[in-house]
Amino acid sequence: MTEIANASHEITVQPSGRTFATQGGETILAAAIRGGVGLPYGCKDGACGSCKCKKLAGEVSHGPHADKALTPQEEADGYVLTCCATPRSAVVLESRQVTDASAFPIKKMPVRVAALEKKSHDVMQVRLQLPAADKFRYHAGQYVEFILRDGARRAYSMATAPHYQDTAPGLELHIRHMPGGKFTDHVFTGMKEKEILRVEGPFGSFFLREDSDKPIILLASGTGFAPIKALIEHMRHKGINRQAVLYWGGRRPGDLYLDAWMREQAAGMPQLRYVPVVSDALPEDGWSGRTGFVHQAVLDDFADLSGHQVYACGAPVVVESARQAYVQQRGLPEEEFFADAFTSEADK
Ligand SMILES: Cc1cc2nc3c(=O)[nH]c(=O)nc-3n(C[C@H](O)[C@H](O)[C@H](O)COP(=O)(O)OP(=O)(O)OC[C@H]3O[C@@H](n4cnc5c(N)ncnc54)[C@H](O)[C@@H]3O)c2cc1C
Ligand code: FES
Repeated sequence: MTEIANASHEITVQPSGRTFATQGGETILAAAIRGGVGLPYGCKDGACGSCKCKKLAGEVSHGPHADKALTPQEEADGYVLTCCATPRSAVVLESRQVTDASAFPIKKMPVRVAALEKKSHDVMQVRLQLPAADKFRYHAGQYVEFILRDGARRAYSMATAPHYQDTAPGLELHIRHMPGGKFTDHVFTGMKEKEILRVEGPFGSFFLREDSDKPIILLASGTGFAPIKALIEHMRHKGINRQAVLYWGGRRPGDLYLDAWMREQAAGMPQLRYVPVVSDALPEDGWSGRTGFVHQAVLDDFADLSGHQVYACGAPVVVESARQAYVQQRGLPEEEFFADAFTSEADK
């Protein structure tokens, strides 16, 4: 048994035909990341379901995972969670999110905190200086992971488009404080300019599919706006004129921490509409815009999503509610839903 589990197995991802091999009992996802193949994922811990893929051939063993991430019925139907599945033979998976373009070299780098700016009561904009020697390449929408002293990792999405690396190298991140959190407590109470940290990246399959001309729905909750901002800057830079509408949700108006910036972009991009949505406005906020849950605002506005692509980022509950409702109630093809759920220790 152990020998079979520890053997190296080839994994093929269709329809791209990308292949990679697992080593010594590692999960399919760990091997994909090592091989620079952009399988989708979030928590890497069997909690969120972001890494779910259809298995077309082969056998896997699943480690512990939450039932809501992969139900027994889904498992019986041949779905796998790549983050906790080890292959027991050669395996063929289906993931339309994997494309040739997704492979930029993954690097570990020291970075220096160049600037810290509070954008709201609980959002910090962190600018990081990269090593001068070589260029960091990524797709708008991807993220990096900080490697903390104890080896724990925390993921944050790049908030600027990659073309800025030519003129203003460095990374911009938007980090929301989660009180009691291992990393964000430090960001809000102890972090200083010039601090050195270690990051690895780029990771993730959340980036614009430029081979499509379908209209786009961008859905962000809270700091889920960071990678969406990068997508918008990228669209503007590349002159991508597909119709797009951004729904950005927060509890209070102040949670939409770059609202003015966003309004300016929308004014300069006729193809882009901006719909801010607030769920818990107080009378003193004087809010006269849309109210309610942000994923619901899209349901209210669109009777049919069968011809759209959706890019969703932020709180796992928003991303998951959106995925289910848009696919089941609005006919969105499952493979046209792209997302990064910002899973944290609390969700695991
Ligand atoms: C792909 C991806 C991209 C992301 N991008 C961003 C981004 O751009 N911006 C952003 O703000 N965030 C982003 N995140 C979330 C981010 O990676 C962290 O999860 C988040 O910042 C919390 O980190 P932390 O170390 O402060 O908190 P953690 O230590 O993870 O704790 C989070 C919360 O859970 C509580 N907690 C800790 N342990 C437990 C436990 N065992 N049981 C119950 N509760 C517990 C803590 O008190 C805290 O409130 C992203 C996540 C992913 C997966
Ligand atoms: S369940 Fe696999 S990445 Fe979250």
